[in-house]
Amino acid sequence: MEEKNERIVDLEETLEDEVLEENIRPDLLKDYIGQSDAKENIKIFIEAAKMRDESLDHVLLYGPPGLGKTTLSYIIAHEMGKDIKTASGPSIEKQGDLAAILSSLEPGNILFIDEIHRMPRSIEEILYPAMEDFSLDLVVGSEGNSRSIKISLPPFTLVGATTRAGDLSSPLRDRFGIICKLQYYTVEELTEIVKRTSRVLDMPIDDDASVELAKRSRGTPRIANRIFKRVRDFALVDGCSTINMDVTRKALERLKIDENGLDETDHQILLAIINKFNGGPVGIESIASSIGEEVSTIEDVYEPYLLQNGLLKRTARGRMVTSKAYECLKIEYQNTIFG
Ligand SMILES: Nc1ncnc2c1ncn2[C@@H]1O[C@H](COP(=O)(O)OP(=O)(O)OP(=O)(O)O)[C@@H](O)[C@H]1O
Ligand SMILES: [Mg+2]
Repeated sequence: MEEKNERIVDLEETLEDEVLEENIRPDLLKDYIGQSDAKENIKIFIEAAKMRDESLDHVLLYGPPGLGKTTLSYIIAHEMGKDIKTASGPSIEKQGDLAAILSSLEPGNILFIDEIHRMPRSIEEILYPAMEDFSLDLVVGSEGNSRSIKISLPPFTLVGATTRAGDLSSPLRDRFGIICKLQYYTVEELTEIVKRTSRVLDMPIDDDASVELAKRSRGTPRIANRIFKRVRDFALVDGCSTINMDVTRKALERLKIDENGLDETDHQILLAIINKFNGGPVGIESIASSIGEEVSTIEDVYEPYLLQNGLLKRTARGRMVTSKAYECLKIEYQNTIFG
């Protein structure tokens, strides 16, 4: 499974990533590159909340993995000058778990719930009064002898992050005052991120190499930083004190990332549709089982980028590759119906 570990497009963060993250994660809004709409909005809301001496309204951040949701949550806490407490949707198993988290909050705290769409509905209901009136409504006692109690909570800000805003129930979604969709980054923005990482890690990179790296990062800062790390290793082994174009290209080739930033799994997805399903339309389940990947991974991680770049199309009857995909894969387009 060596290959799997090297996969540059990955949902999970490794321990090495986490340590690196600590250093390269920006902690002020001014160092958070790109996402100008989200940033502008958040900046104004933070300023206003501070002027009124109130907690910031609840924030929902959504978008594909690695675009900076967690980073932005920490920045919000930092800019508000408040502590952040973190939890994740799947780890909250009982109403009591969430009640315990909520009752430990202090005034102005930021409560960050990652993967908030994975919290069961029955638990989610605890959040409604907490978000709306800062109150915790609990049922205590045993069956037949139960009563409800109301505990007031200090004002706090819930920051929810999700890769799937569509999976959130509408009562929950409606209780967020600030909703931000994070977008894939442009090559210029990613170049800036790569240069920032290079400064923080004290490993210089040539201008052309940083642009090349940015182009191949699928619009995603996490991937840009991961590739940077690998390229840095190659440079070190080759005895280069600066990352240049040569070493960058060599590393990208070894990582099996093509000129368009597509990795092996992207290729597998597109090739499966072309070779096994005549280019589509084909259902996502069939694609997933033909390449041995989870449906949710394809939907959350791979497909959004392929769609955004016009390599894949979604139709009522399933997914189809586009002529651009044939071009990218250097496969001659064959009209299978007539040819
Ligand atoms: N706007 C940005 N400017 C600079 N670096 C960024 C930016 N956004 C993200 N990063 C970097 O990208 C990495 C991944 O970001 P982050 O962990 O916040 O993504 P995420 O959206 O929370 O992903 P996931 O959905 O997997 O939880 C971080 O190391 C961070 O340093
Ligand atoms: Mg995150």
